Amino acid sequence: MKRFLYAVSLALSLVGCSVDHHSASSSVDARVENLLSQMSLEEKLGQLNQLSAMNNIEDMAKQIREGRVGSILNEVDPGRINALQRIAKDESRLGIPILMSRDVIHGFKTIAPIPLGQAASFDLEAVEAAARIAAIEATADGIRWTFSPMIDIARDARWGRIAEGYGEDTYLTSQMGAATIRGYQGSDLSDPTSMAACAKHFCGYGASEGGRDYNTANITPRQLLDVYLPPFQMAAEAGAATYMTSFNEIDGVPSTANAYLLKSMLRDAWHSDAMVVTDWASSAEMLAHGNTADRADVAAKSINAGVDMEMVAETFIQNIPQLLKEGRVKMSTVDNAVRNVLRLKFRLGLFDNPFVDENKNVAYSPEFIEKTLKLTTESAILLKNDNSTLPLKSNVKTIALVGPMADAAYEQSGTWTFDGEPSHTVTPLQALQALDGVKVLYEPALTHCRDAKAAGIASAVAKAKQADVIVCVVGEEAIMSGEAHCLADINLYGKQKDLVEALSKTGKPLVTVIMAGRPLTIAKQVEESDALLYMFHPGTTGGTALANLLFGKDVPSGKTPVTFPYMVGQVPIYYNHKNTGRPAAGTELLIDQTPVGAGQTSLGCSSYWLDAGFGPLFPFGFGLSYTTFEYSNLQIDKQVLSKADTLHVSFELANTGNYDATEICQLYVRDLVGSVTRPVKELKGFKRVSLKAGEKSKVEFDLPIASLAFTTLDMKHEVEPGDFKLWVAANSDEISNETSFSVE
Ligand code: BGC
Repeated sequence: MKRFLYAVSLALSLVGCSVDHHSASSSVDARVENLLSQMSLEEKLGQLNQLSAMNNIEDMAKQIREGRVGSILNEVDPGRINALQRIAKDESRLGIPILMSRDVIHGFKTIAPIPLGQAASFDLEAVEAAARIAAIEATADGIRWTFSPMIDIARDARWGRIAEGYGEDTYLTSQMGAATIRGYQGSDLSDPTSMAACAKHFCGYGASEGGRDYNTANITPRQLLDVYLPPFQMAAEAGAATYMTSFNEIDGVPSTANAYLLKSMLRDAWHSDAMVVTDWASSAEMLAHGNTADRADVAAKSINAGVDMEMVAETFIQNIPQLLKEGRVKMSTVDNAVRNVLRLKFRLGLFDNPFVDENKNVAYSPEFIEKTLKLTTESAILLKNDNSTLPLKSNVKTIALVGPMADAAYEQSGTWTFDGEPSHTVTPLQALQALDGVKVLYEPALTHCRDAKAAGIASAVAKAKQADVIVCVVGEEAIMSGEAHCLADINLYGKQKDLVEALSKTGKPLVTVIMAGRPLTIAKQVEESDALLYMFHPGTTGGTALANLLFGKDVPSGKTPVTFPYMVGQVPIYYNHKNTGRPAAGTELLIDQTPVGAGQTSLGCSSYWLDAGFGPLFPFGFGLSYTTFEYSNLQIDKQVLSKADTLHVSFELANTGNYDATEICQLYVRDLVGSVTRPVKELKGFKRVSLKAGEKSKVEFDLPIASLAFTTLDMKHEVEPGDFKLWVAANSDEISNETSFSVE
């Protein structure tokens, strides 16, 4: 009804007044309606059509002239972009500009850590800044729309695309996604440095069964609402200009035909007017899914479900004219989709200036490098540091730098690095060689991460024996994570395990650095190393960040946004699981401790693995520092609260070690009893707190009780009265600072 009244009032406002869609002073909606009223069906369907860039510019030009193209993806040459925009403006009947798009996922030229690494920083400002840098660099080359952020919750490290998102937690992912959108879009989309964001993949893609890409997602309606949808709702609140449907199906419905997601949620519940694009040919892929009979059916199901633009599949442009005649698609549906596309183009200011300054070069500016270095440094996670091996002391004069990732500029940037040039990337070798007073003995030992030849290990060991300390950089090549790059075994590949083992046997202090796209199963390497730093593919400034961290110029502060399993068989493993009826006590016998001939029930019948126990190798939120922090004096301002209240939480944080450092304080809550079972804990807040050595500070959180709402037994989004536990902690496993409150 509301929409109808809006349409009527809009129509009335247009009667009698002369609106010209060329005139920047008219309102966006008026310009959209004016233009729409002049469009032929073919021109309308052209706007819903996204082409993949073609080598032969004339092929694209021809289609643009005919009004058959709304958007192009992957054209990145500013000269060609200008030429195509000129054709659209001057040679197509209505002069509608083209929306140029690209996967700018973690940087365009200056590459930030992969999103999983960015999440480890828990630094929303730095993540927003990274997205801003990406937008400034990409828009300078004519890209005004990126397919990012990916805000899929991922609880399974086998899934290669875990690299592209912000990890396993709904709250953290929501915050990170919104910060990224703010960074790309800026405060005004029409600013030439603003780039439309795309919240993807809508929805549930991260739950691909077995961690195998494109696979079916088994998600209950309640999980969808409580775990997978909130980041997309927050994206709508942050003003995400576009959404992308996901490849997967949920309960038999591929997302590209899912009206519940695209209409009931996006439009009706969240009031978003974002433009919806399919994933790459995800509309036509419904033929393989088996919910559509032919390409006409694909077009009808997609547009009727709420898709606006099709990425490359071209079923709309080919079939909708006939579908309209048959009454299977309504003209009003087509018009609405076109409105959503045009509105975005107007908002981006493309009608007023679609061109880009071909002589502007903003990439890799010192400011961008400095900000990226800050985020990269904050993204590194110190997982082990026995005997204060790190930071390296001034008596370290000779370093044996070993491993296939020690000088692998392309690989250390990880997945989705199309435009960043490896020549601008600083590797660990380059950064360490640039230090004064340190001699670097470099021996990669393996040519790449999957190298299965052990021949080089002996010379690495020989170099290690001449050094004061070994820095061994191993991990995953870029190709080993990301889209379609799933693994059933998430150990270190090739002879990397042998390399770490051989180095550990030298008796020299061993610092292992892992650069990877996912949490790997590294229990053995953790044992064998004196210190272990984990860097989710760190990008352009990775080597510099590492050198600064190794020598204590910076202190690690990152915390893992995903749980590290001991063994792959534990996945999906995540901190906010349910308790079950038989939670493990943690004292259960493991298989090696179990007597031969033990009785059937002698092991206690609780929820654990005989070989892996119950817990993870490292819990969500875990990360060490060179200093130590102590939490104390946890206080809340009320014991009993109403649903409208906000709980004020405070505690003292002390830096009890010897280094100035930053701690990521985390706030967790458990809802003890619900009409449906509740997770054992949920992250509800985090704060980065910087303290000088010996300094103490009061830390405060405000927890709106409304944020404790969940999908109840009768599918309402509500806070249920009852008792809650609350922790402030250094990671999700810590329970020493606990209090409780209740809600009436
Ligand atoms: C991916 C998307 C990406 C699109 C365009 C697809 O294969 O799933 O994430 O944005 O391609 O490149």
